[in-house]
Amino acid sequence: MTLISTNTIGKPVSRVDGPAKVTGQAKYAAEFNVPGLAHGFVVSSTIAKGRIKKIDRSAAIAVPGVIAVLAHDNRPDVASEHEKYTDATAPPGLPWRPLYDEEIFFSGQPVALVVAEEFEVARFAATLVGIEYEAEEAITDLDTQLDKAFSPPKKRLPGWDPDPRGDVDKALSRAPIHIQRTYRTPIEHHNPMENFGCTAVWEDDGRLIVYDKTQGAPNCHKYLCNIFGLAKEKVRVLSPYVGGAFGAGLRPNYELFLAALAAIGLKRSVRVALTRAQMFTIGYRPKTIQTLSLGADQDGSLVALKHEAITNASRFEDYQEPTVPWTGALYRCDDSAVSSKLARVDLFTPCDMRAPGGAVGVYAIECAMDELSYAVGIDPLELRLRNYSEMDQNEGKPFGSKALKDCYHWGAERFGWSKRKPEPRSMREGRELVGYGMATGIWEGLRVPASARATLAPDGTLEIASATADIGTGTYTILTQIGAEMLGLPLDKVKVKIGDSDLPPAPVEGGSWTAASVGSAVMEACDCIRKELLERAGKLKNTPLDGAELADVTFVDGEIRMNGDPSRRLPLSEVLQGANEPITSELTSMPDWKTLRRYSHKVHSAVFAEVRLDEVLGMLRVARVVSAVAAGRILNAKTAHSQVMGAVVGGIGMALHEETVIDHRYGRFINHNFAEYHVPVNADIHDIDVIFVDELESHLNPLGVKGVGEIGIVGTAAAIANAVYHATGVRVRDLPITIDKLLGLRPPRETASAG
Ligand code: MOS
Repeated sequence: MTLISTNTIGKPVSRVDGPAKVTGQAKYAAEFNVPGLAHGFVVSSTIAKGRIKKIDRSAAIAVPGVIAVLAHDNRPDVASEHEKYTDATAPPGLPWRPLYDEEIFFSGQPVALVVAEEFEVARFAATLVGIEYEAEEAITDLDTQLDKAFSPPKKRLPGWDPDPRGDVDKALSRAPIHIQRTYRTPIEHHNPMENFGCTAVWEDDGRLIVYDKTQGAPNCHKYLCNIFGLAKEKVRVLSPYVGGAFGAGLRPNYELFLAALAAIGLKRSVRVALTRAQMFTIGYRPKTIQTLSLGADQDGSLVALKHEAITNASRFEDYQEPTVPWTGALYRCDDSAVSSKLARVDLFTPCDMRAPGGAVGVYAIECAMDELSYAVGIDPLELRLRNYSEMDQNEGKPFGSKALKDCYHWGAERFGWSKRKPEPRSMREGRELVGYGMATGIWEGLRVPASARATLAPDGTLEIASATADIGTGTYTILTQIGAEMLGLPLDKVKVKIGDSDLPPAPVEGGSWTAASVGSAVMEACDCIRKELLERAGKLKNTPLDGAELADVTFVDGEIRMNGDPSRRLPLSEVLQGANEPITSELTSMPDWKTLRRYSHKVHSAVFAEVRLDEVLGMLRVARVVSAVAAGRILNAKTAHSQVMGAVVGGIGMALHEETVIDHRYGRFINHNFAEYHVPVNADIHDIDVIFVDELESHLNPLGVKGVGEIGIVGTAAAIANAVYHATGVRVRDLPITIDKLLGLRPPRETASAG
């Protein structure tokens, strides 16, 4: 296939779903209304561990309008095998079964569903359900469980963790400079704007049409079929619009199970919508405790790299945050070892959250690199260039493409890095201390099998269909652009249908792989239509395209044009004249595994941050961030920019605000609301500058893309933490960097110990 042309690709096209979203026509999972819809409200466990002894439904049932109080003791039949509750993104272990039996594994676990004619009635009656528990002591503090940490027997993916190379301990003991530091990151919750919600529509023929907030309709479809023993064609899951997810919607969440359970049991349509507080009872980013050991020569060359992480898991699943693999891929170092361990606590299983592992692991290694830069007296940017790697030593392979040097160069230019004075606390403006910090970002360039269908109607309109999702990332828009580009159509002649398990299957929308995976499928399906069109064109009487091959022509402005001879052209309308049937192509796009495996595929970035600390008020703010990204071809300058900008905001949140706090006496998240779980708001966000450097990627997929969703958060927290140190001379090694950690802390000793 020829490389795609760029009449539409790359342009800053506004979101095609934008008008529907801002006018309220885009419907979200909990907004689909059907006649006779009942409403379920979740009763959440108040204990974190133990069992339910008794459920007193009498007061709740007595409320007029209450239809049922469903719990483990009266629910309809469900599968008993844990395996039936697994899903495409489940970690190793025994998946939790909602409302299955009396056992409680985490605070906030749903223990009953009150179903009523009205939402308010269900909510009120839920307060009247009397649950008697037999509580056991819950352990939720990771720090008390470190001696019980274990290496998970089964890795989620190969390559986690990569094998050690060389002899790191020997190299460390010989290194003239040796730095060992421990960094901590807290539990964080995704907190998308749209809460999880599900509307399960019961059809008279026993079919279940389910609108759920999810990143993978096919994943939820399989989950429901397995648990409720339903034939494939009896269930359809739709998720046309998703109001943010960040990974929280990768696994099927319990609103889906509960809505389906109630609909099947009551034979009527039921909606279950979670409250914001209940959003803190599903997956989250685990807590990490990470120790970095860096050995270096006096000139800053790394001679040893060691990274050890401990993260929390639940009692029943081994969710492993891929915290450490990045360390071995970022810099050239022959003696390196990384490892990650889990320790169990009485919380729900953690899950992927934007750039899982990368966001937290790169924070630690990039802060340690900053500490090393002071220890050897070398500019932080120069230190990274000195240790630049042309190989991914984890995999022993060259990078398919790596324009990171350009990211460093253009990012530093745009930021004005050369104005930085090396000494901490040396830059000041009025009563503000000013700090400059930087970090490298890295993320996977992934591609997985995905299917799509392209249908060109006789009237010249194109429909693209795939079961993938748009979680706010711009998937609708880039798929529209790819279709328009391939067939030379204006954007408004292309319609994209996604978020529906009835459509050609696609993997969950995550890992920043959708453009590379589903985009390739759309491109290839459209290419088949091009072939058919050209064949038909060649058969027309007096055709100007006689004998033309696909490589000889361009589809542009509604025409097929002979390359190099503008006089030989044919409008698509003429090719389609008299056609009664649409031209359709449906296929599964497979990566070329052989070529793909010859290289390491990573997205890179260089992040520069300026922070300012008002010494009188103690106010810390991130005044500027420049994020320079190398992610292959950029399909849409605007949506890609928004992706990185949004992720930088996430990085600012991670650095300064976000932390879910547990009251260990009750094993419960206590700041489960937006008053006390702080996310950055408008007033926290100042200048964010996003640059995409040119990068040619030709091995991963025919589009030449690598994906831009997650790279924006990786490295951002480190750049900010490093800037805070530069501004203040205070090194805070546990996120978030809140004022209390800066106040009253004396600058710790920064000199590295002798090796
Ligand atoms: Mo993303 S954490 O792969 O939704």
